[in-house]
This record gives sequence, C-alpha cells and structure tokens, in this order.
Amino acid sequence: MLDPAGTAAAEIATLFWWMAAGSAGVWLIAVGLGLYCARGRRLPQPERFVWRLIVGGGVIVPSVLLVVLLFFGLRPLTRADAASFGAPTVTVSGEQWWWRVRYTRPDGTAVDLANELRLPVGHRTEVALASDNVLHAFWVPALAGKVDMIPGRATRLVLEPTKIGVFRGACAEYCGTSHARMDFRAEVMSAADFDIWLAGQAADALPVDNDEARRGAELFTWHGCGACHAVRGTTAAGTIGPDLTHVGSRPSLATASMRNAPAEMAAWLAAPERTKPGAHMPGFAMVGDADLHALAAYLTALR
Ligand code: CUA
Repeated sequence: MLDPAGTAAAEIATLFWWMAAGSAGVWLIAVGLGLYCARGRRLPQPERFVWRLIVGGGVIVPSVLLVVLLFFGLRPLTRADAASFGAPTVTVSGEQWWWRVRYTRPDGTAVDLANELRLPVGHRTEVALASDNVLHAFWVPALAGKVDMIPGRATRLVLEPTKIGVFRGACAEYCGTSHARMDFRAEVMSAADFDIWLAGQAADALPVDNDEARRGAELFTWHGCGACHAVRGTTAAGTIGPDLTHVGSRPSLATASMRNAPAEMAAWLAAPERTKPGAHMPGFAMVGDADLHALAAYLTALR
C-alpha cells in the first residue's frame, strides 16, 4: 500500500503520509501542552489569554484542521466517482472462494479466466465488480483502494498501473470459511506482452500431446467435469466453476501460494477441502490415484 505501483494507490499513499505527519504534529502539541501543564511553573494567567486559548486551541484550530483533512480525504473518493467510465474491459466476480475474471476484447469477444488478473502498464483499465453470493472486496493494495462486491449492485474500479511487476491481491471483506484463501496475483505487463498473453488466452484449448493427458481428457468427460467447467474447443461448457481452457498456464492453483504442477493438481482434485475449506468443488478421491494423475496430467497440459 505504501509502495504504490498505480495512480490511485499513489494518491492514497500520499494522503496517508500527510495524515500521519499531521497526526504526529497534533500529538506532539497535545503532549507538549500536557507536560507543560503538569510540570511548568503555574503562574496565574489573565482571563483574556485563557479565553483565547480555549477558543483558538479548542475550537478554531481543530475545525480548520478537520476541514482540511476532510477535503483531502474526500478528494480521491470524488475523483473515482467522477471518472468517466466507458465499457468495462474487465469484469471480476467474487465467487466462493475464487475470482471469476472476464476480459472483453476490443472486438467484443469475451475471455473467461479465474484467479488471474493481468494488466497493461500505463493504461486505464475499467473493472466492473460483481458478486451473486456474499459480500467480497477486491483489493490490490499496490494498485488502488479496495472496493466491495455487493450482490445486486454494480460497483466499479479504475486501475492504472504505473510499474511492471507482480503484486498481491486479496479479498478484503470477510466472506466465509476460505476468505483468507482468496488471494491472487495481479501481474502488470508491457502493453505488447499483454496483447500477446490475452490473444493466447482467447484461443481454444489445443489437443494434448501425450497418452496420459489424452486419457485424462477422456476421464474429464467421463466423470462429468464439463457440467461445472468449460474447456473451450471441447464439449465441456459448464459455467459454475472456473473456466479451465488454459488452466495449466496459470501461475498458481486455487490460492496464490499453491504451485500449479501435476502433483498439486492431483491433490487438489482428490480433496479440495484440504486447501480451501467450504469450496463448492467436490473431492474425487474415489476415482483412484491413477485416474487422478491422468486428470492432473491433462489439466496441467492445458496451456
Ligand atoms: Cu471473498 Cu473474503
């Protein structure tokens, strides 16, 4: 938050430092006066001086300070409100407990992703925030302030990153058992890299090229995974769970700290509860180790 990499976050960090300095000043004056009263020589003061001290130090100075603070505190808020929103280019929906991320490309086509947000540096990206379940709050501290996702209400956020890098994102509103596991990576890339990445994500899944993964693809269909998950380019078109078209290319699995590799994928499929208590994904331990590993080989090959 105090190492901003976006315009909105920079404004919040500046406000924080001014407020911290202001409160430190007020604290020093108050403590100084307290010490003076406790230990200073107690000379009788003329009544006019005492009256001025009370009106000046007790009414005028705090009123002026509070109005100034209010002005600077409200400025970032009103600016965000007044921002001219165009069509949102990204829609992020809070799910239990993951993030559904939908990019709308300039030609109007949509690309669905999960738990992964990438942004081009130096561009304003308008993000629509939604939830159809409980309250979540979308927060990438290095890029902007947090904004709630409220069922039945549309909220928005403008992200304008100024630095290339990987930043941590989190859910900032307690939303249930796996609230703390809703962390994610927000990656800021050069505009050219971003375009290449998004074009790759928009493409259909390529056929997998080894026997175990091919068997995994058959098992994926056989066990009915496509009822909840979509893999574009195949018959799987479910929308309840994350889109898995390029799940193997994601930097992490389920939470930001979990490696996206075959062993972790197999463990996740066997018992999602162990990583994310309360997740809607059922465990598939009953299919046996060999099938779990084939499924994991298939999913991690979807790049
Ligand atoms: Cu979602 Cu906390």
